[in-house]
Amino acid sequence: MRKKIIAGNWKMNNDAVTSSEFINNMNAWFALPEGKRAVRAIEAGEVELVVAPPFTSIGAAASARKNAEWISIAAQNAFYEPKGAYTGEISLSMLWEAGCKYVILGHSERRHIFGESLELLQKKLLAALETQILPIFCVGELLEERESGAMEKVLQKQLEGAWDALTSDVLADMVVIAYEPVWAIGTGRTAENEDADDACAYIRSLVDDKFGPAAAEKVKILYGGSVKPENSAGILAQPNIDGLLIGGASLNSESFCAIVASAL
Ligand code: PGA
Repeated sequence: MRKKIIAGNWKMNNDAVTSSEFINNMNAWFALPEGKRAVRAIEAGEVELVVAPPFTSIGAAASARKNAEWISIAAQNAFYEPKGAYTGEISLSMLWEAGCKYVILGHSERRHIFGESLELLQKKLLAALETQILPIFCVGELLEERESGAMEKVLQKQLEGAWDALTSDVLADMVVIAYEPVWAIGTGRTAENEDADDACAYIRSLVDDKFGPAAAEKVKILYGGSVKPENSAGILAQPNIDGLLIGGASLNSESFCAIVASAL
């Protein structure tokens, strides 16, 4: 059985004080019956919780944790060079030092607002793996691409552009894929459970074609896009969906914990 990952992407929200408060609320929740169930599931390797604060809040969030095994930290982006004259960029080794286990790469906001290319994302993916930071690699189609029947082609291009140089073990053990249809992000419009599952099944079939059935069985694929406590259980019940990447509903510890509870 694949582990379920419940990840909160805070985007450009939650300063250091708010991030510490969030983690302190989680620490208190872990002492309650529902939170204790979460701890048991985490320690059994069934569930993993991840939060992705903005860069300047990573340290505060990491150090507020009562137990680092219970909440993993992700960065929301990184540059591929280890150091040098790249004003405004952050390297993966710096993120590792700050306490990050994961890095989100290829989020639709990076692709569409900041124009990150397939080529750039491939470099970032390889650099993350070299640094042993686990990538949460996001893919997803625009509304017009879905409506014109191009979804599969778009997902294929985004994935094949990134994973060409990987071995099946690295892909299966280290890369988490997040399917996030762009039209569902921050819009309140979630994909139907079956449509989200179909897209994740398609991604799994691409993994099978390129890396074989064992990798396809093992790779973790998350869904993201307007996930909230009211719809999380239905999405998590889908056979090809191994977790959630949550934006808006992860900003508040109460709704994040409610979503976590739906995964237990
Ligand atoms: P949302 O964002 O949950 O606010 O739709 C998801 C994401 O961008 O990862």
